[in-house]
Amino acid sequence: MIGALPDFRLETWFSRWEFAAAHTFTASDTETMSVADLLALAGRSVDEIAGMDLGYRPTYGTRELRDAVAAQYEVIGSDDVLTFAGAQEALFWLLAELLAGGGHAVVTVPNYQSVETVPLASPASVSGLPLWTGSGADLRWILDLDRLVSLLRTDTRVVVVNFPNNPTGFVPDQDTFRALALLCHDRGIVLVCDEVYRGIEVDPATTLPQAADLTPSAVSVNVMSKSYGLPGLRVGWVAAQDRALLDRLERRKHYTSICNPGLTEHLAAIALSVGGAVHARNRAIVAANITLVRDFFADFPDRFEFEAPAGGCVSFPRYLGAEGPEVFARRAIEEAGVLTLPASIYASALADVPTDRIRIGFGRTSLPATLAALRSYLENQP
Ligand SMILES: Cc1ncc(COP(=O)(O)O)c(C=O)c1O
Repeated sequence: MIGALPDFRLETWFSRWEFAAAHTFTASDTETMSVADLLALAGRSVDEIAGMDLGYRPTYGTRELRDAVAAQYEVIGSDDVLTFAGAQEALFWLLAELLAGGGHAVVTVPNYQSVETVPLASPASVSGLPLWTGSGADLRWILDLDRLVSLLRTDTRVVVVNFPNNPTGFVPDQDTFRALALLCHDRGIVLVCDEVYRGIEVDPATTLPQAADLTPSAVSVNVMSKSYGLPGLRVGWVAAQDRALLDRLERRKHYTSICNPGLTEHLAAIALSVGGAVHARNRAIVAANITLVRDFFADFPDRFEFEAPAGGCVSFPRYLGAEGPEVFARRAIEEAGVLTLPASIYASALADVPTDRIRIGFGRTSLPATLAALRSYLENQP
């Protein structure tokens, strides 16, 4: 099973600063909304919430929510969906279960830490697949399938990817992604795809298919937190055609959350029923914010080198200032109240993640005020 887990660097940084910061320039979610606004958007009444009972719900998730999730997929049906407390619980049990018997896993780097540290704490051995080629100003984000093939072993059980990627905003092209899914399936490898940032791509041509729709063995992980902007629901899910795997995961969930709150599964189903409108709202916020960020960074060419992300609401620009990204991030939060993430948060045991970067986020409507605070800080530095 799973051995000792290290501190989750990103969450530890957020424990210290997320709710103390005056300005968050590194949120990974999009603008949230009130319960009343969500219900109004869906033409529903607050009374139906007030009348809900607070009893347990099925571990698999309510039929209402599983139907609403399945409606987001082409092939996946509602029996192919198991809900979890956020994407975090889903990733934890999925990786722990798939690697409980050892073997080998490949994980893309940089990554959201649990997809690396849960496999490393399992009996399996783990290899990193860097998502870049080149370095410094010449670095390019890339999904290199030849490099992946060179890492595969006869006992490779899992390949873990996350597109749109946190922290880079990278999305591979459609053909490469489909080839990845087929490659894994042909070799009997489970492709685990974390798709939590999917759906708000500014150019819809970059929106990838969902892995679980592509092959009988691929698994999609998703959540209401990021592109839907509703992290407080704590509703995530695993979608997979492999029902035996879902049954095994249901048994594991009995040890942690048992079930999600019925209230938030109901609200999640309502949000998914107007999912296109929620995504459209958040896509518009992200598109406008990317322009603001690009213009802002253009005013500080000696400090920042920014590439707009292909998807999602985060990116990993270079920080060129002499003091480096670690000192910059610490001073920005301590002296200006502006929260960013320094590159060290994304350090990996599997590959040398570029150290000249900061993780930023731009899914929230507070971004203009955040940029104003950062501008005033930068312009008043000695
Ligand atoms: C790529 C990725 N996966 C999973 C999660 C966890 O999501 P949640 O907080 O909804 O459980 C995050 C949160 O930042 C993330 O960035």
